[in-house]
Amino acid sequence: MQVVSCNSFGPVADLVVEDRPSQPVGGGQVRIGVTAAGVNFVDGLFVQGLYQIKPPLPFVPGGEVAGVITELGEGVTTHAVGQRVFASTGLGGFASEVVWPASRVMHTPDALTDGQAATFVQSYGTAWFALHHRARATAGESLLVLGAGGGVGLAAVDVGRAMGLHVIAAASSEAKRALATSYGAEAVIDTSSEDVKTRAKELSGGGVHLVYDPVGGALAEAGLRSLRDDGQLLVIGFAGGEIPKLPANQILLRNRRVTGVDWGGWVGGHQQENQQLLADVLAAIERGELHPVEPTVYALTNVASALQDQLDRKVTGKSVLVP
Ligand SMILES: NC(=O)c1ccc[n+]([C@@H]2O[C@H](COP(=O)([O-])OP(=O)(O)OC[C@H]3O[C@@H](n4cnc5c(N)ncnc54)[C@H](OP(=O)(O)O)[C@@H]3O)[C@@H](O)[C@H]2O)c1
Repeated sequence: MQVVSCNSFGPVADLVVEDRPSQPVGGGQVRIGVTAAGVNFVDGLFVQGLYQIKPPLPFVPGGEVAGVITELGEGVTTHAVGQRVFASTGLGGFASEVVWPASRVMHTPDALTDGQAATFVQSYGTAWFALHHRARATAGESLLVLGAGGGVGLAAVDVGRAMGLHVIAAASSEAKRALATSYGAEAVIDTSSEDVKTRAKELSGGGVHLVYDPVGGALAEAGLRSLRDDGQLLVIGFAGGEIPKLPANQILLRNRRVTGVDWGGWVGGHQQENQQLLADVLAAIERGELHPVEPTVYALTNVASALQDQLDRKVTGKSVLVP
């Protein structure tokens, strides 16, 4: 099997693609022949040693895969060889095959390509958890999505539109804004040239109900200042690299709220609830209400370019590695 190995924390260019013997399939496990491995922002952080969790070296990055079952371990009756499946692996996904517990391998619905199946769980899990569970958003509210052309941002545009929210998408490039518009954003803000607070207030008639922020830095404060009375800033992540320090007076004013969204952390202690969340997302996809983006494809051997492009804000939507 072919794997991407991180042998030391550092630049993504130091990743090594190597051949290794296949792992044996144990009882209750299945082997997945990987056809697409989803790339997430966090993968680049893992490799650089910049994530709060530092895996023991060497490790194989990659948190999401899709593919086909090629072998069943003893006792597995829920799956069959040849079935299309997807799984969240946390690590180990940047490989031509993955051995994983059958109980955590889901069937890929016909509505999804392998590329979509390998990229929707983290992005839609986060967006759904943020808007349904944390914000408890209701139809008719306004939602400003920052980083709206990226993975978790675009998913929030999609989930927000499906919930009946009025979505304003903020992004730095024309391509990202156009993609967000095609996902139902009613208005866009160019973060490279426009003042986000001023434009968001203009577009929403005085302030938005919700801001979804996966970027952080100065944009977070602009988002906070865009909120109307009782509005909520959803703290998703810090792709911009800077963890913002928000002025408390801007939270006090207009009775605003700042809400943490740690979907990844929540999943650990809420496996059953997360299964329900994913079932809800899948049901919405199958009803045609949600549309995970078709990702940009990179060869597995081109992993360094894929991760560097993500870190350099060059990926519009999502990307996958194909062995
Ligand atoms: N809270 C949770 O449970 C959870 C779950 C998943 C991910 N996350 C976090 O959410 C963040 C975004 O993840 P993602 O997968 O959506 O990433 P992504 O696809 O790379 O999108 C991030 C967006 O952030 C913007 N950005 C601004 N400054 C940037 C910079 N210096 N470097 C990179 N991007 C920059 C870019 O949009 P513009 O070019 O338009 O500025 C980019 O499209 C990450 O911090 C990730 O760790 C959180």
